[in-house]
Amino acid sequence: MNIILIGPPGAGKGTQAKFITQKNNIPQLSTGDMLRYNVANKTSLGISAVKFMDAGELVPDNLILDIMKERLKNDDCEKGFILDGFPRTTIQADGLQAILNELNIKIDYVLVLSVEDDVIVERMGGRRLHPASGRVYHIKYNPPKKSGFDDITDEKLIIREDDQEATVRKRLKVYHTQTKPIIDYYEPYNIVYKIDGNNMIESIKNEIDDILN
Ligand code: AP5
Ligand code: MG
Repeated sequence: MNIILIGPPGAGKGTQAKFITQKNNIPQLSTGDMLRYNVANKTSLGISAVKFMDAGELVPDNLILDIMKERLKNDDCEKGFILDGFPRTTIQADGLQAILNELNIKIDYVLVLSVEDDVIVERMGGRRLHPASGRVYHIKYNPPKKSGFDDITDEKLIIREDDQEATVRKRLKVYHTQTKPIIDYYEPYNIVYKIDGNNMIESIKNEIDDILN
């Protein structure tokens, strides 16, 4: 089962990807998590990417396609994968298609989560992240068992650098201009499912379960 998750920043892609991973035993490939790992470890990719991320802009397509080309060839992708936050431009969608052709596989589902911009700005202020696993929490809508700490490892949660309101608004603008158009790219294949991301986390989870079953 090969899935693409599309949605604005804060739509709940990471939250839902974790549920899909648990239920279907396929990996979540989040380009955002991969980039943050590289930034934290000061790799050359991280050093090139951080200025774009902090500005709420997209990291150049060639850097993203280079990492995904390698990642999709990993053995753990053989049973399927969830692409979280990739592709994000038509150039990335074309690049992904070339990689899939080479591997002789296709995308089965494109799940599009939509949420209004103002709801997102409010949500992002309450997000907390466990950087090592990519697990996300919300102080109000999805709180950890112990405030400020990850449920599983008990390690400290952080606030993402790019979750300040001005940066979130910039990321939303980038989503509307550069990423939303790729939904049309997949429409002709009849694999696009539109989901109301304003609903409760649990009800979105159930809706996605129904689609994938
Ligand atoms: P990335 O990490 O992918 O960020 P994003 O797409 O902006 O999305 P987020 O991770 O912010 O949100 P999400 O949809 O995962 O929501 P979440 O589940 O956390 O990218 C970061 C940056 O990296 C980009 O700006 C760019 O610079 C770079 N980058 C990454 N990929 C790239 C690419 N392919 N090309 C170029 N550059 C790239 O939920 C958000 C919060 O809301 C949480 O607190 C959660 O608990 C809560 N929540 C979730 N669902 C609900 C709900 N239904 N109701 C109430 N609260 C909810
Ligand atoms: Mg995410």
